[in-house]
Amino acid sequence: MNPAERINELTEKLNYYNQRYYMDSISEISDQEFDMLLKELESLENQYPDLKLPESPTHRVGGTITKNFASVEHRYPMLSLANTYNEQELIDFDERVKKGLNGENYEYICELKFDGISLSMTYENGIFVRGVTRGDGVRGDDITNNVKTIKTLPLKVKNTFQTAPPSGATAFEIRGEGFLPYSSFEKMNAEAEAAGEESYANARNAASGSFKLQDSTEVARRGLDAYVYQFLSDEEIFATHEESLIALKNLGFNVSQTWRKCNTIQEVIAYINEWDEKRFSLPLATDGIVIKLNSIAQRAELGYTAKSPRWAIAYKYKAESKPAILKAVTYQVGRTGAITPVAELDNDKLNGKGIHLSGTTVKRASLHNANEIERLGLRIGDTVFVEKGGEIIPKVTAVDLSKRDMFNTQEILYPTNCPECGGALTRKEGEANHYCTNEKGCPPQIRGRIEHFIHRKAMNIDSLGEGKIELLYDKGLVHDITDLYDLTYEKLFGLEKVTEDENGKVRKIGFKEKTVQNILEGIEKSKQAPFKQVLFGIGIRYVGATVAEKLASFFKNIDNIKNADYETLRTAPEIGDKIAQSIVEYFQNEENQVFIEKLRLAGLQFSARDEVKEMEGDQLAGKTFLYTGTFANFEREALEQKIEANGGKVVSGVSGKLDFLIVGDKPGASKIQKAQKLNVKMISEDEFMAMLG
Ligand code: IVH
Repeated sequence: MNPAERINELTEKLNYYNQRYYMDSISEISDQEFDMLLKELESLENQYPDLKLPESPTHRVGGTITKNFASVEHRYPMLSLANTYNEQELIDFDERVKKGLNGENYEYICELKFDGISLSMTYENGIFVRGVTRGDGVRGDDITNNVKTIKTLPLKVKNTFQTAPPSGATAFEIRGEGFLPYSSFEKMNAEAEAAGEESYANARNAASGSFKLQDSTEVARRGLDAYVYQFLSDEEIFATHEESLIALKNLGFNVSQTWRKCNTIQEVIAYINEWDEKRFSLPLATDGIVIKLNSIAQRAELGYTAKSPRWAIAYKYKAESKPAILKAVTYQVGRTGAITPVAELDNDKLNGKGIHLSGTTVKRASLHNANEIERLGLRIGDTVFVEKGGEIIPKVTAVDLSKRDMFNTQEILYPTNCPECGGALTRKEGEANHYCTNEKGCPPQIRGRIEHFIHRKAMNIDSLGEGKIELLYDKGLVHDITDLYDLTYEKLFGLEKVTEDENGKVRKIGFKEKTVQNILEGIEKSKQAPFKQVLFGIGIRYVGATVAEKLASFFKNIDNIKNADYETLRTAPEIGDKIAQSIVEYFQNEENQVFIEKLRLAGLQFSARDEVKEMEGDQLAGKTFLYTGTFANFEREALEQKIEANGGKVVSGVSGKLDFLIVGDKPGASKIQKAQKLNVKMISEDEFMAMLG
């Protein structure tokens, strides 16, 4: 067998086993055998890269890095759905459908509303070619390499549709919902925690973050999945939605088998009630159901409003609410010293197991601030209602006064001193939060500032995390950010800490050789982090990452910022009263000045270096460009970058000196007219691409 034949055979076999394993949960061969075949294919593909097939399973393991995802226009816009929250609104919807169809018979298909991120997948001649996020509905990000890591998504389908004749459609789009199954989510968060890194608040955020990672190898590792629920092509291939769902399933797509055909709105309501509880056994969060008219021809009759189809609607489940006992209120202290009261909740047996709400166990809920406690009128021992919609953070919504017993409940005395360090608390005029004033001596504030300092958008020291910082602090090695720069191999090696979580699970953090090296390298590298990141990292109140960037590019260095008075600060773009005030206060404090000098001595960047732009070529050298309209391959900023990276210059208006006007979709009439008058050469996006070669 020649290499081409073997590559074809291996690709086909591996895709088949993959499909059987992920879709039908059947292992036809052992993991070892599978890996051996995959290795063989990989090595053949390395030897003969030209023979690698677009549907090769080796595409799924990642291996690509994408710096900026290209923005692409959707062939069919990605619309949203109108929402309803009660039966009456559903019945009204049904009435509108009935009226719109003038007495014809009609059916609905009910599906669950999956809470992930919507994806659009394009197939050409049966080959998966593109995966795009929803974006603004008109244009989305091209995340093809990340979508390819979804094991249940076929990279190639037979280009025939079993319930309808293949009508020559060579391109079609599949819409669906990408998600991170709970099991993968939990694994990922456990890993992050063990490494002392930040974990995601819920699976939806984790999925959204994962689909937008630049490194597809990491995406592959996370184990994303997708359910598909829509087929689109230029020509109608299916008469009903039901037919399309069946055909998609037969083609190997992951269609959730939770859908149902309903003949009346009463049957729809029965479906809703049936899934109200059952949905918590699914591998992802659902926040409602989607009701779609089955007949494609009838859909066309009803048409669309500006935003959504008239033939479909979403019903949102009510946030689930359950009673819980308020056992205690505890107080958390953040990096800025802000105090957050937290409700410690339990079930009526007070056995420490918490309550079960929307698929998870709830033992705590934030109470935000003292005003909220007052607003709710809480007492310790009260029975309260706790609510959680979908995956949203649980919250205490009310007290069940009928259950209140004055003798067995106690007033909540808001602390006057910090529960962590004993420092005095203050509350400024007009602010909801109390703050601990013992800035320099309060452990969670110190740790919080260091955590902020190492943040990705600040010094980006990803070899440190919450757990490791706690260890360094507890061992007395780091009391202040500046101490990070005095750490040495000897100080770190062998440090160890064992902790036990509330479920009795034991976790060990230990600093071995590799860990220590990584930490020291991360700290060393941080000395090269640009000024804007340092400015964000030092944690001036109200100076977030964006504000820091604005300040850095306006003032260029720390001394200019330090010496600027309130009025000067206000002249910088987007610097308002609160921020300017906070910066002035920060630099008035001598301790802060000493702190900055220490960091300067350690070698951190306190002035903005002119960023060296990465050049790609010089094809456009000496030429000026302007553009108008929108483009298939670029967003405005990306287009400008492309021009500059290839030696061209972007100018701000049409003049006789302009060399090229790049004309995109829906161009501006005035620019075109002016260019015509001045005889400026106009080129299309394709022509521009051709100039780049
Ligand atoms: S159909 C024109 N079906 O809900 C309607 N959408 O608000 C196309 N979603 O962006 C959508 N589960 O991300 C449809 N079974 C389902 C869905 C679903 C979740 C999401 C989808 C869409 C949003 C609409």
